[in-house]
Amino acid sequence: MNGFPSILESIQDLTKPQIDALLERANALKNRAPARLPLDKSLYVATSFLEHSTRTKFSFASAIKRLGGNHIDFQAENSSLKKGESLEQTLLTLYYQGIDICIIRTNESHLLDQFKDNPPIKIINGGDGSNQHPTQALLDLMTFIEVLGSLKGKRITIIGDCEHSRVTHSLIELLPQYGVELCLCGPESFLPDTQAEGVTHTSDLDWALENTDAIYLLRIQLERHDQSDQRDNSGYHESWGINLSKLKKHNVTLPIFHPGPANIGVEISQELVDSNLWMAHHQVRNSVYMRMAIIEAMVGNGDNKVGAQYRDLSKNILGEDK
Ligand code: NCD
Repeated sequence: MNGFPSILESIQDLTKPQIDALLERANALKNRAPARLPLDKSLYVATSFLEHSTRTKFSFASAIKRLGGNHIDFQAENSSLKKGESLEQTLLTLYYQGIDICIIRTNESHLLDQFKDNPPIKIINGGDGSNQHPTQALLDLMTFIEVLGSLKGKRITIIGDCEHSRVTHSLIELLPQYGVELCLCGPESFLPDTQAEGVTHTSDLDWALENTDAIYLLRIQLERHDQSDQRDNSGYHESWGINLSKLKKHNVTLPIFHPGPANIGVEISQELVDSNLWMAHHQVRNSVYMRMAIIEAMVGNGDNKVGAQYRDLSKNILGEDK
């Protein structure tokens, strides 16, 4: 897609028409439209997950294969990153070896900012710390539309540890563009203080359940909490977890979304995971098509500046020979 960014770090890197085009393409791929790859070369995509993952890594791997591309998994543990090499030099190594795109997951927020002006390689953010997870938000958007129809005027409530959730931070940037009123619900210490148009906050779960069209649950992301800020989560399910009796009490039937991994018995009960309200498997299924659309758009963005500043190896830093 011409003009598509070469570094997809956050939702803000995309325009609304680009997001619309991704939705259209992901749905077409789901309906078995053929993949469009550059015909003059084969596609090589690396995944570099410096943090654990099941869904994101495997759906990218599956998307790459379905596009007819080659997937190389870069194992950070066994790489020169462990010998003190910078991420920039590592990415440049992948670039010179002919990799088209690298998908990176890291526990460090904003790690990819440094590459925006001079990208050493095309990069898709697979989740950086608690900052952003744009591809998850995009596949969630695709699934919300599939389940709820038009999103204009609908309220979607994210319940749980919103503050540490990179998915929430991406959804805050994305969903209001589609007319959603996004409500963040949880204990005060789990709510970010960001004020954004179309986004409200509440710690009143009873009100939230009665005034929403869908719920989106989050696990407590303990690994992203400050050491100084450990709360006691032993009574979490009783206070904030969603189960059948809470839905019955409010007489509501709500579709339940979750980016995974879900902690059953904490934010969600087993009976709801086993029910027809549980939408997480639709999100997982759609993740492959949305990620295919994103890879395709980035490969075909016509950007020949990638690696440019590094390609000029003739630079004579010692000046002219006399
Ligand atoms: C999320 C993530 O890693 O940010 N999961 C995902 O990518 N599917 C959510 C989480 O970590 O809880």
